[in-house]
Amino acid sequence: MKNKLWTILAFPLFGMAIAACSGSKSTGSNAGEPALKDVFKKDFQIGAALNGSQIEEKDPQADAVIKKHFNVLTPENIMKCEIIHPTLDKYDFTLADKLVDYAAKNKMQVVGHTLIWHSQLSPFVRRMQNADSVKQFFNNHITTIAGRYNGKLLGWDVVNEALNEDGTMRKTIFLDKLGDDYVTEAFRLAQQAAPNTQLYYNDYNNEQPQKRAGCIALIKKIQAAGVRIDGVGIQGHWHLGRVPLADIEKSIEEYAALGMKVMFTEVDIEVLPRNFKGADVNQRMASDPKLNPYSNGIPDSILQKQAQDYANLFKLFLKHKDKISRITFWGVNDGQSWLNGWPVRGRTNYPLLFDRSFKPKPAYYSIIATKK
Ligand code: XIL
Repeated sequence: MKNKLWTILAFPLFGMAIAACSGSKSTGSNAGEPALKDVFKKDFQIGAALNGSQIEEKDPQADAVIKKHFNVLTPENIMKCEIIHPTLDKYDFTLADKLVDYAAKNKMQVVGHTLIWHSQLSPFVRRMQNADSVKQFFNNHITTIAGRYNGKLLGWDVVNEALNEDGTMRKTIFLDKLGDDYVTEAFRLAQQAAPNTQLYYNDYNNEQPQKRAGCIALIKKIQAAGVRIDGVGIQGHWHLGRVPLADIEKSIEEYAALGMKVMFTEVDIEVLPRNFKGADVNQRMASDPKLNPYSNGIPDSILQKQAQDYANLFKLFLKHKDKISRITFWGVNDGQSWLNGWPVRGRTNYPLLFDRSFKPKPAYYSIIATKK
């Protein structure tokens, strides 16, 4: 009788202790580990980019990790023009609506990615020859999509990657047909259609001095036109042993001085060889076995080095947590990262915090340790 009473009393307590440890009710493969979003709750939001099957909840293991660790989500592809606006008169909101519902159901927020970008455009846009049709597309696209999700998203990457490495404006169909002010115009339209959504400019390498200067000029131009811009996203596609901490710190300070929320929006630290910096999705390299050294597994020494890079990065983020609102990883686990297919197809890359079986890597533990 005594034993039975003990079991009845102790079992619920034991159950509660497990739930408290895991930080959620999920039974993911890392159920005993602290949730990233809880560890950094007082510092910044922690996000992940989700692919289509994750949004459709077709991947139970990913689902457990997403629900446990992240409080803000970015669609990796499904809000890009080629998916959400496939032909001139047709929008397809199926997956975008699902993402918004999924986030609401799980008390997470969503950042829309992205309204205006020169890549992953639908073919009908690429074919446009005259300025009037581009202008019509531009107005319609921004107004329709931003309007549909007004107040349902935390923020929008209104314009993505408008700058060259030297800080000048990138030559795109928008610059070509609409002229220099198209970025300001995109923010103006987004502001009208989505008055209750934050508006961001997003780019890669915009922590580098020349591109940063261009980005600052762009922000000042938008502000001078009396148009709202709330933040700047530094994508953060960096390389093992070469995370530019000093440039990142300067960028955080300089962007924040303009009143910008600073966000790291697509973080990954890749470990494979590459002969250029940044993340231009149109830049590619030919396959070569020498470029794929860890196809059968990665040495622990590399993972430890990566953990050190991530720790240094998060120490810097914590130092400036008053200026940083969000850190988003570009993917959930290593097997799902875009870096397995870019810039070389068919590689085995290891850029994120969770391995191919969703187990936390040394990088995960090193990030948690920055809080101790
Ligand atoms: C990438 C996606 O991850 C890939 O699945 C897709 O094939 C190409 O685009 N900068 C961005 C992201 O702003 O949208 C890109 O995402 C990665 C670089």
